[in-house]
Order: sequence, then structure tokens, then C-alpha cells
Amino acid sequence: MENNDNNSNNIKSKNETEEEDNELHETIGPIGLNSSSNDIEEFNHLKNIVSSFFNYQVDSLREVSRIERDFSSIPLKYKERMSFNYQTRIEKLKSAIWENYKFFLKIAEPYKEMFKSFKSSTGEILIEPLFVKPKNIIKLRSTLKLFIRDWSKEGLFERKKTYDPILTELKTYFSNKSEKDFEKGIYILNPGAGLGRLMYEIAKLGFKSQGNEFSYHMLLSSNYILNNTTKENEFFIQPLIHSFSNLINEEIPFKKIYIPDECLSDNLIKNKYGEMSMVAGEFIRVYKKNINFWDGIVTCFFLDTANNVIEYIETISEIIKTNGIWINIGPLLYHYTEMENEISIELSWDEIKKIIIGYGFEIKKEEYIKTTYSSYEESLMQTVYNCIFFVAIKK
Ligand SMILES: C[S@@+](CC[C@H](N)C(=O)[O-])C[C@H]1O[C@@H](n2cnc3c(N)ncnc32)[C@H](O)[C@@H]1O
Repeated sequence: MENNDNNSNNIKSKNETEEEDNELHETIGPIGLNSSSNDIEEFNHLKNIVSSFFNYQVDSLREVSRIERDFSSIPLKYKERMSFNYQTRIEKLKSAIWENYKFFLKIAEPYKEMFKSFKSSTGEILIEPLFVKPKNIIKLRSTLKLFIRDWSKEGLFERKKTYDPILTELKTYFSNKSEKDFEKGIYILNPGAGLGRLMYEIAKLGFKSQGNEFSYHMLLSSNYILNNTTKENEFFIQPLIHSFSNLINEEIPFKKIYIPDECLSDNLIKNKYGEMSMVAGEFIRVYKKNINFWDGIVTCFFLDTANNVIEYIETISEIIKTNGIWINIGPLLYHYTEMENEISIELSWDEIKKIIIGYGFEIKKEEYIKTTYSSYEESLMQTVYNCIFFVAIKK
């Protein structure tokens, strides 16, 4: 098989990859550094993403200065009305930023040689001043928050709603498979794997589980958590500090989120046939030629990331085996809607269903599941998606 090389856990690089903003990537070494590619554009793109990790503290402190300035600008009579001291908020914010920054430095450390560094007068190693595109600052913060969904106990309520129905269907569908079948390998693909929790849960069931991602923010972060954690609750982060809207109380933004909520290696060992791998790259480009390979494909909050959802369906229909199972959960919030210079084909579920059947699938189950995405349970705002959950078998 062309694209799979299932050494467990390691992120694989591909020659052709693409990011959400459709910028082209080329070969990405471990990921990135030792690339033999001379594609400067690709290197610069990765460098841009990595710089958002290194610059997290500086970018975040800029926001703290804004908060400090605004609070100090209001008349004393209003300050006196507040039961909390805003200076305490500022100090707690700075310390939380520092904690998040230390975590980001662990993730970005292998890429530091991409940047010029120098020694400060106090002996610290400093990296050349960086400019980070605002969109990459936003993506980094949303990646930080996504750790709650995938790797913390606080994300359990969301994972139960979203990942559990998929895992139940997989278990049921392959329940008649023998130990020998699992030993030989039952291959499940999870395109748009995000931070990799679903891929990992699938491996825990004994499948050869492969994730696919094209966002470097996701790839670098999932690589770290999947390959470098040795115990439960090894790190904490404070991902809620970047919004002070919809708070029930002043303490919530400073909540420490411990990750990962379980020890990955212990749990994988429990099922000796389970393996996982992650392939970097744009789904269609990476898997197009992977004809008739996959026993199962699971798409979770992924279908609507397509420019042209029909092309996703076509690819899935070609790379899945006859009698392979496709399980999907997610809304149809098309990602490229109203984006300049982007094609966006927006179809209803009814229309998509007909197309799926037209590509040779039989829809075995069709339900709606209400769930949130990357939300924090104790927030005053919850966006609930009425997700389409379907199970389709390739005939
Ligand atoms: C809405 S997120 C869902 C992540 C994960 N499945 C979850 O449920 O948490 C969609 C993910 O798909 C990735 N993605 C979008 N289009 C992609 C493509 N064409 N190829 C590979 N990954 C893609 C994005 O980078 C993002 O991480």
C-alpha cells in the first residue's frame, strides 16, 4: 500500500500536503526540519506555524496589556463597585500564559533550529523576533482549547456524545472477526483527525488505526501528546484564559486542565493488535490512489471541511473495501462558505445522502445527535449542533 507505513504512533510525512487555507506544503521532515525538499514556500509555511508556538507568550501578553489598560481607564467609582481586584486577574493571566507557553515550548522544541537564536546578556537563549499572522494566533488558541475536548476529563461529556456512537458501531460491525483477523489487521482511517483522540480510541479496540490531518497546529500538538506522554495528567494547561465572555464566575478562565486524562501507552498495550499512525497531508491527495484498502472509515466533524463534498464522497467510495463501513458524525457547517477565492459546494444532507447511495453505499443507520464542539460545560454559551450520524456499507 502506498501511503501507509504503520509504525505505531509516529506522525508520517507526505510529499504533498495542504493546510486549511489551501497553502501548499511539500515534504515535511520529523515534521519539517530534515526535509530534503527545497520548497521554500513549504518551509516558510511550517515556520509561520511554529513561530505561533514560540511567540505565544509575547502575543498573549499584548492582549493582557489591553485588558490592563481598559480596566485602569475606568473611573475609580466603578472600580470600587467590582468585588474582585482586576490587578489580581492580570497577575493570574500572566502566570497562566507562562504555563501554556511552557507547554507550547515542549511541542515546538524540535523545530527551534528553524529560527536564528542568540544568547541574551543573562545567558538565556532567545529566538529571533517573530511576526505571527493573526490567523495563526487564533488557530493556536483554538488548538489549545481543543485539548479539553480530546485529552482531558472535562472533555469526556463531549467525547461520549461524539466518539462513543462511532466506537460502538465499529465494535458491533467487526464483532464476528476472529483474533486471527485482528492479528492480520483491520484497517480504519480517520481523516481530519484533529488532536487524535478518536484515532487512539480506535487503536485501543485492536484496530490498525490511522489518522490524517493537514493542519500543522494539529499535527505538531497531536504528535506531542501521542508520542511524549508517559503518565496520566502529566501536564496542565489553562486554555480558557483567552476569553472572558460568558463566564459563570471569575475562576473559570484560570481552571487548570490536566492532560492526558489517561496513560496512552498503558492503554494501548492492553490490546496487543491495536496500532496507530498519523499521516500528514490533504486527505484526497494523500489517499486518492489507496484504492480498495480500508475496512472502515470514520469521519467526525469532517465532511463539511471540503471545498467539494462530492469529491470527499468519491474518494471514500474508492478507497474503502467492498463491505467496508463508513461512519460519520457531524454538522454541515461548510468551512469555505463565503471565502474569497475558494470553491464551496454547499449541499443539504438529503442531497448528500443520494450522492452517497449513488457511489454504491447502503445507508444502514441515520440519526441525529445533538452535541457541542470544543465547548466548556460551565460556560454561559453552548453551541449545540444537530449532527447527522450515519452508518453506510459499501456494496
Ligand atoms: C472540525 S475539525 C474536527 C477534528 C476532529 N475530527 C474532532 O472531531 O475533534 C476538522 C479537522 O479536519 C482537518 N482537515 C480539514 N480539511 C482537511 C483535509 N482536506 N485533509 C486533511 N485534514 C483536513 C482540519 O485541520 C481539522 O483538524
